[in-house]
Amino acid sequence: MKHLWIIANWKSNKTLPEALAWIDETGPKLHLLSNIEVVVCPDFLSIEEVAKRIKVGNFPIIVGSQDLSPHPPGAYTGEEAAKVLSGFVKLSILGHSERRQNLSETDEMVANKVVQAKNAGILPLVCLQSKQTPIPDGVNLVAYEPIFAIGTGNPDTPVNAQDVAKHIKTTYSDQVEILYGGSVNRDNCKAFIDQEAINGLLIGTASLNPQEFLEIVEKCW
Ligand code: PGA
Repeated sequence: MKHLWIIANWKSNKTLPEALAWIDETGPKLHLLSNIEVVVCPDFLSIEEVAKRIKVGNFPIIVGSQDLSPHPPGAYTGEEAAKVLSGFVKLSILGHSERRQNLSETDEMVANKVVQAKNAGILPLVCLQSKQTPIPDGVNLVAYEPIFAIGTGNPDTPVNAQDVAKHIKTTYSDQVEILYGGSVNRDNCKAFIDQEAINGLLIGTASLNPQEFLEIVEKCW
């Protein structure tokens, strides 16, 4: 059975009570499976409480962040340093297109974030908007997320996602795991994970609803 990542990217959506209610509803229904990693990425403020709730419930959910600072700890007002986050998260989504578009995040900043993540023992998950997006050195997990597909209800085709994934494996490394993201939902998720070169899903809108997220995980079991 191939290794799969099912990752919820809540973006800037849930209040802390909503985040904890999601964990309470989803956690008890998830099974620990050796080939599937279920990850939830709350906003920074909710990370600590979400991590605690998962630990107390002993739920098979990994906590990730949606970003981290390109700088080490120090005089960087408003930044979340990887070293600080590493007490709570195992993975960090880096270089999401919403940050590149709305916050002028550059390839260089993404590369610096990867260095910070790795130094702190956090697994970097780098978002690629196309085949051309550079992958910083030492990255083993990426998500192909074409901009036209994000939050639009207009996903890429599974066949095209597979072609992009194969291209990345050929040109970068065949060890890299590639996820697909962009308008994934309960109806189309299986078609993406059935593609041989795709190792999982990065899910925004459809991850907000615990029922729909659980249905997606169940379809991957
Ligand atoms: P979406 O978002 O599922 O709402 O398209 C995916 C993402 O931005 O990671």
